[in-house]
Amino acid sequence: MSKSLIQFIIEEQRHIPNASGDFTGLLSDIISACKQIAHDVNKGALIGVLGSAGSENIQGETQKKLDIITNEVFIKANEWSGHLAAMASEEMDDIYEIPKQYPRGKYLITFDPLDGSSNIDVNISVGTIFSILRCPEGVTNPTAADFMQPGTKQVCAGYALYGPNTMMVITTGHGVNGFTLDRDVGDFFLTHPDMQIPVDTQEFAINMSNRRYWEEPVQRYIEECVKGKDGGREKNFNMRWVASMVAEIHRILTRGGIFLYPFDNKEAGKAGKLRLMYEANPMSFIVEQAGGVCSTGRERIMELQPTGLHQRVPVIMGSKNEVERVVGYHKGA
Ligand code: AHG
Ligand code: MN
Ligand code: MN
Ligand code: MN
Repeated sequence: MSKSLIQFIIEEQRHIPNASGDFTGLLSDIISACKQIAHDVNKGALIGVLGSAGSENIQGETQKKLDIITNEVFIKANEWSGHLAAMASEEMDDIYEIPKQYPRGKYLITFDPLDGSSNIDVNISVGTIFSILRCPEGVTNPTAADFMQPGTKQVCAGYALYGPNTMMVITTGHGVNGFTLDRDVGDFFLTHPDMQIPVDTQEFAINMSNRRYWEEPVQRYIEECVKGKDGGREKNFNMRWVASMVAEIHRILTRGGIFLYPFDNKEAGKAGKLRLMYEANPMSFIVEQAGGVCSTGRERIMELQPTGLHQRVPVIMGSKNEVERVVGYHKGA
């Protein structure tokens, strides 16, 4: 029988001097949250959780009932055990302080409780994304400012994918490993050790309906992909767009690809759509650890100094040679 996710983490943490077990405890709570979310997503209309909640989050998106339910599930599973000092989520305007009755721990977490939530009512894959940071030394009452750490400071990043199988994929900076939920046993087991993104690909993912809003380097790159061998490239390309970043990145981790939600001028003041702290940074950590490259087009995503919990950022990530090509176009190559 293959290793459970918790066994894997305990064995990995044994190599870290003075590891206190806090991190393993935190991971165990995150796993519990994802198992509960997998259950709710899986039951869907049977338990009345589909459809809109009628409210809006800070980014002006209409919240689905499941956006709110999964946010609550994630908080409840993680607030009590003393591993976290505070949390931040797509669905909460400000940080979530650990209630006074619980001990406070040494980690901070940011999360997207339900990624791809526009897909929930049409029964297409969704996910949960998380990023773990250290709470700065000596801080017992963290504020949003304490979360403003570049992605290079992440201790761990991961996602759960609720698809035909439920999977968890995580990195602690030593490669990327994937685990599949065995519902009968109730545990995640290592099924995808040391995931690697092929450096070359013939598959791109972008929301083509935004084409008229892109900058010239992205226009040029996508035009080339679409034309393929008839337009100067050495190969033809296929296209995919699930509209769930988790599903998109999981496909790229499995068989390669390039994913773009680039800068666009659709709405003034927005630098693309995806959010740095709970989408772009954790996915960048995973993709880089699997041999991929992640950029805004101009800078490495994980080196950006965050300025806000819900800050948006252009995202270009995946197979090394294709991402480097687009970055080259931004540099005027
Ligand atoms: P979320 O459901 O957490 O708000 O994230 C949705 C994101 C991401 O998962 C996906 O890549 C992208 O939005 C899809 O955007 P479009 O609807 O513009 O295609
Ligand atoms: Mn959303
Ligand atoms: Mn999302
Ligand atoms: Mn979401």
